[in-house]
Amino acid sequence: MMCRIDKVIQETPDIRTYRLKFKEEGMMERFNWLPGQFVEFSLLGSGECTFCIASSSTRKESFDCSIKRAGVVTADIHTGLDEGDEVGIRGPYGNWFPLEDLKGKNLLFVGGGIGLAPLRSLIQYCIDNRKDYKDFTILYGARTSADLCYKDEIADWRKDPSLKVILTIDKPEETWKENVGVVPKILEEVVKPVVANTKVITCGPPIMIKYTLLSLDKLGFAPKDVITTLEMKMQCGLGKCGRCNIGSTYVCKDGPVFTYEQLKKLPDEF
Ligand SMILES: Cc1cc2nc3c(=O)[nH]c(=O)nc-3n(C[C@H](O)[C@H](O)[C@H](O)COP(=O)(O)OP(=O)(O)OC[C@H]3O[C@@H](n4cnc5c(N)ncnc54)[C@H](O)[C@@H]3O)c2cc1C
Ligand code: FES
Repeated sequence: MMCRIDKVIQETPDIRTYRLKFKEEGMMERFNWLPGQFVEFSLLGSGECTFCIASSSTRKESFDCSIKRAGVVTADIHTGLDEGDEVGIRGPYGNWFPLEDLKGKNLLFVGGGIGLAPLRSLIQYCIDNRKDYKDFTILYGARTSADLCYKDEIADWRKDPSLKVILTIDKPEETWKENVGVVPKILEEVVKPVVANTKVITCGPPIMIKYTLLSLDKLGFAPKDVITTLEMKMQCGLGKCGRCNIGSTYVCKDGPVFTYEQLKKLPDEF
């Protein structure tokens, strides 16, 4: 299905958010997704890439994909696509965050870099259903302050006294007055989360995820209460091509959202 790019937001030097609307009349109303799902995004003449839907269907006039320049196709997207241009979209695919399990719980979001994109969809969804959730904490980090995404939206979240937002960057900067240190360190030393009745939802670069999972273990979180989303290489998005499997698990179909408990049971190749 063809979409028109309604808006482009330059989030960081290498991440752009594309706000999309279907060309076909009424399609936006019929396009239903849940936080955690992804689309296949095709740029004619270049190729197709997988991106999560970075916004919530509770705000349905359009939907967002936040795209980090990583290689051939994403570079073509950054240089070749602007407001008013058209792209092909397939989806939504994959599973979603366990919305029912999160109800009545404290929520702790732990994100790094572009990993805030799938969390943002869930954060928006939970903000729009705020009464269903208890304490709400967002820990978000990036290498530098320039690499933090969604700065305007984070400023809005901070105006809401029912949301706690903690930011961190890896190294000191002259004008930076907030936390300095990698996400797992700030999680243990600054956030010090309450474990009882809390679900943790995390996404970020593999190294951040690895050490965040270790920190959460140390803090006493049970693996069933920690949820993450994987970014294996994909092609069909439908469980047909075998590109994304880990043993008999297809990340595109059985995931991309998994609990840490489920991840621990996957073969070592992961
Ligand atoms: C479910 C899912 C959701 C995703 N959501 C987002 C998102 O919201 N925003 C975003 O910017 N990216 C996201 N990605 C990653 C994105 O699909 C890849 O960065 C993109 O396909 C790279 O395409 P390319 O042609 O530019 O890079 P290539 O030229 O194919 O590769 C460039 C480099 O990126 C690596 N790479 C390629 N594909 C992936 C991948 N899937 N995961 C990790 N590394 C990869 C390659 O190994 C290589 O080192 C997601 C991936 C999945 C599977
Ligand atoms: S992407 Fe084809 S099987 Fe998962």
